[in-house]
Amino acid sequence: MQKDLLTVEEVTRQDLDNIFKLATKMKLERLDYPVRHLAGKSIGMIFSKSSTRTRVSFEVGIRELDGFPIFLDQNDLQLGRGETIKDTALVLSRYLHAVVIRTHEHEELVEFAKFAHIPVINALTNMFHPCQIITDLFTIFEYSERLDGIKLCYMGDCANNTANSLILAARLAGIELILSSPEKYKPRTSYLDPDSMGAGKIVWEPDPMKAAENADYIYTDVWVSMGYEKEEKERNRELRPYQVNPKIVSAASPSVKIMHCLPARRGEEITDDVIDSHKSIVFDQAENRLHVQKAILALLLDEETLK
Ligand code: CP
Ligand code: NVA
Repeated sequence: MQKDLLTVEEVTRQDLDNIFKLATKMKLERLDYPVRHLAGKSIGMIFSKSSTRTRVSFEVGIRELDGFPIFLDQNDLQLGRGETIKDTALVLSRYLHAVVIRTHEHEELVEFAKFAHIPVINALTNMFHPCQIITDLFTIFEYSERLDGIKLCYMGDCANNTANSLILAARLAGIELILSSPEKYKPRTSYLDPDSMGAGKIVWEPDPMKAAENADYIYTDVWVSMGYEKEEKERNRELRPYQVNPKIVSAASPSVKIMHCLPARRGEEITDDVIDSHKSIVFDQAENRLHVQKAILALLLDEETLK
């Protein structure tokens, strides 16, 4: 793998295969604790936004690999008082073996990685959420035993971090991705350019019923991502037709699985009866964050992992 994991774009098919193999092993052998991939290594976790899954799965995962997580709210650091990202990255590189960062602007993360001598892992920015989406590919693979040719329909804000990362993942894995939203929330134009689609097929379809037709998976995310709270009223109104409810689900394949990165706003982007149904795999997605991130950490930080 490359030094940093900032977007799905840095990940190759070979990396993905390695992550899947190792995550499968980590999942099966979780109780054989500890696996010493991170022995003696300290991993910083700088979070400027709330988190349940990402924070806890990384902290637990680092400990299960015999490493030492150090959680830092942005305000715990001098960064909150004006120290530059560059100086922070240079200093933390002298203490830590890697850093996991959740922040607002993706450019801040890129800047940090530019100056850091240690691996930098994106734990969510306004633009991308690669750890989530690599985990989602793993979860789809567990259920379907393949990724190539899977038909995945994504409903809601098609320009947010989850959608952007899903698009990059579809390109990598050969997924047919149909994104559905009103015009205002459609994917950026360059993502719909046929020359940029790699192995995938990426389509924007404003009609939600058409988009869901014969889908193997339906995926949704909150309509109001962190940092966009001011737009809550208009987003809830404009995205309402894209709610994942029994009617939308009825258009999909009879064996459709329902996905959500969580946290969910039940009754908004997804109804209770859908998220709680036997078709829903949202808690498998959440659990798999732990196994997949452990695999990523081992591959980034332990040269012995693939030997
Ligand atoms: N899906 C996800 O990243 O959840 P958290 O915001 O709780 O970390
Ligand atoms: N799009 C959501 C994802 C949360 C995991 C957000 O950025 O808030």
